[in-house]
Amino acid sequence: MFLTFCTWIENSPFGWAIRDSKWLFPAIESVHLVALAIIAGTVLIVDISLLGWGLRRQDPSQVAADARPWMVGSLVVMLLSGFALFSSEATKCYGNPAFWFKMTFLATAILYTFTLRSAVVRPKARAWGPVWRKAAAIVSMTLWTGVGIGGRAIGFY
Ligand code: HEM
Repeated sequence: MFLTFCTWIENSPFGWAIRDSKWLFPAIESVHLVALAIIAGTVLIVDISLLGWGLRRQDPSQVAADARPWMVGSLVVMLLSGFALFSSEATKCYGNPAFWFKMTFLATAILYTFTLRSAVVRPKARAWGPVWRKAAAIVSMTLWTGVGIGGRAIGFY
């Protein structure tokens, strides 16, 4: 089923256009990398605040609230640019363990970020003591690092 979709999207005019062009894939991958830098920054700034390693003048809930529009915006750009890259080499990604490693980490990271981690950074979320806040930050950084490693590894398989 998914392989049929991969073959279809790869042979679609969209997939062809990116694969055939000398500059489109690198241009889209550059957008992917710039958005990666922004999403990494927005995730880290909150996790560092949760760990108490910096930004102590602001409560982590305030840092998270300020960073959220940038995180959501860059995540949308990552998903769209990632899909464009994928569509040009979909069947290669289908058979690539690094791609599945990345997609597993990505799905988990997104689910975690918008559920448990959001609960920890909610204003007045005093129920979550310092140990849980630190644990929440470490899980977050681990999941997003997994996405990045998987993304980098795709090109090596
Ligand atoms: C927040 C989400 C994402 C992050 C952090 C991320 C991270 C990365 C990284 C670090 C690279 C390597 C760039 C390089 O080597 O120059 C990459 C490449 C890539 N990503 Fe993503 N990515 C994300 C979302 C996606 C999505 C949703 C897809 C597909 C549906 C995707 C598909 C790809 C593909 C196909 C490549 C190119 C691999 C190659 O070099 O052939 N990415 N990504």
